[in-house]
Amino acid sequence: MDNRILVTGGAGYIGSHTCVELLNAGYDIAVYDNFINSDPEACARVMQLCDKAFPVIEGDVRDTAHLTATLKAHNCKTVVHFAGLKAVGESSEDPVKYYDNNVAGSLSLLKAMQAAEATNIVFSSSATVYGEPEFLPYTEDHPLRATNPYGQTKLMIENILRDTHSANPQFRIAILRYFNPCGAHQSGRIGEAPKGVPNNLMPYIAQVATGQRDALNIWGNDYPTPDGTGIRDYIHVVDLAKGHVSAIAYILEHEGCLEVNLGSGRGASVLEVLKAFSKAVGRDLPSRIKARRPGDVAAYYANADKARALLNWQASRSLDEICADHWRWQSNNPNGYEGT
Ligand code: NAD
Ligand code: UD1
Repeated sequence: MDNRILVTGGAGYIGSHTCVELLNAGYDIAVYDNFINSDPEACARVMQLCDKAFPVIEGDVRDTAHLTATLKAHNCKTVVHFAGLKAVGESSEDPVKYYDNNVAGSLSLLKAMQAAEATNIVFSSSATVYGEPEFLPYTEDHPLRATNPYGQTKLMIENILRDTHSANPQFRIAILRYFNPCGAHQSGRIGEAPKGVPNNLMPYIAQVATGQRDALNIWGNDYPTPDGTGIRDYIHVVDLAKGHVSAIAYILEHEGCLEVNLGSGRGASVLEVLKAFSKAVGRDLPSRIKARRPGDVAAYYANADKARALLNWQASRSLDEICADHWRWQSNNPNGYEGT
């Protein structure tokens, strides 16, 4: 009988890279996505890269009946749950859309999993659940406090998963708190394809490099950091994807509800990222200093010890590799998957 891992949101940026690593690790997969922020072409390219076909089901995670039927049809007992909306600014403008898609979508998934007797789930959380840092690096026991509706949805889903595990210990859960994913598969065939103007640093710099944007706006150079610009923990998306394979191996062997940071454990400033990306491109990229972006904090980065100890996982790709891979993807696909 068919026995696959269901990847919700598997056509998206992190999902598509995770599909590659799951296939490389020998798992069978099925992707479930409504393509609200992605393109089915990403799945086609994953199949080419891995020389392996898999079912791609168009559907919304809020459609519990369809999701239940999909889990049963493919005998999926394990789900990697990426499906969600992720734009922080938009979540403040339209919170209902975010609570509905992310929270109601995750509740629907849990109902479908219960109906289909699927009890293993890996969930995409975010370092945003830590809120303003009380101490750095963030360890998993840092207090949780979301500061915008997007972050609230992640915290609510985490709480729902913890309660689900307490009531139904047969549920095996890994909550993965991502730091700042960037980079792309080294083939240059899959990568991040933001719609509209990118909010995040690396996709914005990449569009400056192609000439789609004139200069990087550096949001503040008066932070209490060594060069005055914000510091974050940038993690290569392939390292992140491999973290999911490690998390699945872990929950298949261990009961419980695991919370773990997936970060590199090192911080880099905006100026350091700009310099590394310029090196990858081979020329200095234009930038200008602007006022701080509301809601930003000076610095945050992960304590990655728990992932190393429990999952035997650590990020291995450097900032230079992240930039080189991101640039290969961006220069080969300046408009993402559009028109392919
Ligand atoms: P993405 O937008 O590229 O991927 C999300 C995928 O989910 C897309 O393919 C989208 O079409 C799909 N989707 C959205 N709503 C859906 C729904 N209701 N039903 C079915 N499919 C739906 O984003 P990503 O960067 O790959 O992020 C994946 C997950 O990781 C998200 O949950 C995001 O919140 C989380 N995360 C991302 C980051 C980041 O910086 N990229 C950081 C922390 C956490
Ligand atoms: C953002 C999200 C956060 C999410 C994270 C990972 C906000 C407020 N937070 O955080 O919820 O989990 O992405 O995807 O949006 N920068 C510039 N110019 C730019 C873009 C960014 O100087 O054009 C700076 C920022 O001020 C920051 C750093 O680059 O210091 C990283 O920014 P970004 O990529 O947006 O990530 P986060 O702020 O960490």
